[in-house]
Amino acid sequence: MSVIAVVGAQWGDEGKGRVVDYLADDADLVIRYGGGNNAGHTVVNPHGHFKLHLIPSGIFHPRTRNLLGNGVVINPPALVAEIENLARAGFDAANLFISDRAHVVMPYHVLLDQLEERERGADKLGTTARGIGPAYVDKVARRGIRIVDLMEADAFRARLDAALAKVRRQVDACVEAIGPDDELEAPVAEAMDPRTIAEAYLAAAETLRRHVVDGQAMVDEALERGERILLEGQLGTMRDLDWGIYPYVTSSSPIPGGASIGAGLPAVAIDQVLGVAKAYTTAVGAGPLPTELDDADGEALRERGVEYGTSTGRARRCGWYDAVAVRFSVRLAGYSSIALTKLDVLDGFDRIRIGTAYRDPVEEREWTTVPASASVYERLEPVYEELPGWQADTTACRSWDDLPERARTYVERLEELAGVPISHVSVGPERAQMIVRAS
Ligand code: IMP
Repeated sequence: MSVIAVVGAQWGDEGKGRVVDYLADDADLVIRYGGGNNAGHTVVNPHGHFKLHLIPSGIFHPRTRNLLGNGVVINPPALVAEIENLARAGFDAANLFISDRAHVVMPYHVLLDQLEERERGADKLGTTARGIGPAYVDKVARRGIRIVDLMEADAFRARLDAALAKVRRQVDACVEAIGPDDELEAPVAEAMDPRTIAEAYLAAAETLRRHVVDGQAMVDEALERGERILLEGQLGTMRDLDWGIYPYVTSSSPIPGGASIGAGLPAVAIDQVLGVAKAYTTAVGAGPLPTELDDADGEALRERGVEYGTSTGRARRCGWYDAVAVRFSVRLAGYSSIALTKLDVLDGFDRIRIGTAYRDPVEEREWTTVPASASVYERLEPVYEELPGWQADTTACRSWDDLPERARTYVERLEELAGVPISHVSVGPERAQMIVRAS
């Protein structure tokens, strides 16, 4: 038996989708355990170039089953649209399963996400505006609607009416705080109309019905049979609800602790945790990012790495590799090893920097971990170590020995700073561009 969790070691967008797609070849079951369609996974394989938001990246492997676990929040019309998109590319989603315990993202969650961001004004978090935070708030407040409720039309309508009564007060308070805006009227009315919602969601329910299962029973059977299970993380440690830079976080737990709860298996069943880290740093959304570059190097990383959000199209903030953040993630997630992605993006640089510590200009001290306070973190400055670049094309490298010596030195230095082996190095988006190092 082997259960491997694939977890983001930075701010998200590390390339987890491509790593899962690569590993899914051998997997019987791939499970998403958190987040929703705020995620954006780009997968390039012989069938084409795909953007996935909810559907796990194992979908392209015909014998791999894919489960949206109970920890995921699901927007049913968005999921139906994704299934239809795959169908157009010739993929039937027969191997997609949805946990009946997963919570549903409602139109008023999306509305509230947008209104709350507007109300925050200059302090906005930069969420993906997909309703993820408000859906988890309702889950925790015990007034959420789950997939199992969506399967019964009358129960769904009753829960919807009860939820709308409460949500209306929240929406009214937000609209009042924002101030007069005629353009808000129509979207608010639509997102709060029980008939429009019931029509769209119950229609989506009919398409999704054949995919809905008791997720825990499915996982349990797979464990019993000794199947190979991959747990696919969303986002990364630095956006974890508890461990990320609060409040610039998502509303679920990307770290492996979240995988046990959100997939429905015992924590001790996880045999291996594979961290995924990009060879440099990127983030979308607000909050401190110590190694961020506001110069030509940052622009070069963005352009060479095509660093634009898969879900929102937003330009990602780019910077040098932050070894303090990754080390923090190693301590929290206990990686067995790390897959380092997008090494090829650094091919053209004549020198490459690594943030190895932070300097606090106020307290005049060095930090080698991540502070709890966002305002302290904001003022910290990276302490850099500089390595010479390799200035050679690595995209055709297929083995560790094919890599230029300076590229190997860079990876080895990151490995030393992380304190765990770097087992995989990717030099491009295609399956063949993944170098597996002998252990
Ligand atoms: P939310 O998950 O939409 O509430 O957004 C919370 C924070 O996580 C924001 O900074 C988002 O930009 C960030 N975020 C959410 N999903 C992703 C993702 O798939 N990639 C990168 N950042 C994300």
